[in-house]
Amino acid sequence: QGIDRMNVAIDGPAGAGKSTVARKVAEQLGYIYIDTGAMYRAVTLAANRAGIASGDSEGLRTLVARLHIRLKQGEQGQIVLLDEEDVTEAIRTREVTLRVSEVASHEPVRIRLVELQRLLAAGKGIVMDGRDIGSHVLPDAELKIYLTASVGIRALRRFKELKHDGSITLEQLEQEIAERDESDEKREVSPLICAQDAVVIDSSELTIDQVVALIVDLSRTKMAEA
Ligand code: DC
Repeated sequence: QGIDRMNVAIDGPAGAGKSTVARKVAEQLGYIYIDTGAMYRAVTLAANRAGIASGDSEGLRTLVARLHIRLKQGEQGQIVLLDEEDVTEAIRTREVTLRVSEVASHEPVRIRLVELQRLLAAGKGIVMDGRDIGSHVLPDAELKIYLTASVGIRALRRFKELKHDGSITLEQLEQEIAERDESDEKREVSPLICAQDAVVIDSSELTIDQVVALIVDLSRTKMAEA
């Protein structure tokens, strides 16, 4: 009775703390963490470099067909390789952040990346975060979490991360996050939605470690009950 490995899907809007939480949950369970947002970012970076517009569906289709995206576990966490080049840092720029949502709205891009994500999860023992993991990529994940927080809190967290370098105000960030939420929620292909069987966690009033402990507990319960 019970199982010893499972898959955990963590979805939610930008800035809810998904990646930090997912990485820590994976660490505690001894699982592999997979950041699917990083894959969409890698495609966006490649499109930027190739001069392909984020609205050019055909251009993006051709691009993803020849791209080679790979995730590797490094000592400091996940390393993203784009055609074997380490782009872990390069995919975090604002230039990429501002275009990624539109790039991710194209079906050919999603089909290709979802295929890759399912392959990565086939052996179980992974924690995957994104927008459509519980609802579309891994509908059979044993545990699904929908992690959210108020827009104000999410903007403030991002603002602190940016270390007030003066390039953007808190109000601008809040505006950008609200816009990204809206475009992730409204897109036609696999929008951000809460899967029916997901456990909703609002992290507005919780610390990262409290959220992590909650999810690890839920995982252990699920495994014991399975
Ligand atoms: O999690 P993130 O902010 O790095 O994600 C970047 C963008 O990629 C975000 O705007 C939504 C998109 N995304 C997606 O459409 N589906 C996923 N599974 C993960 C991310």
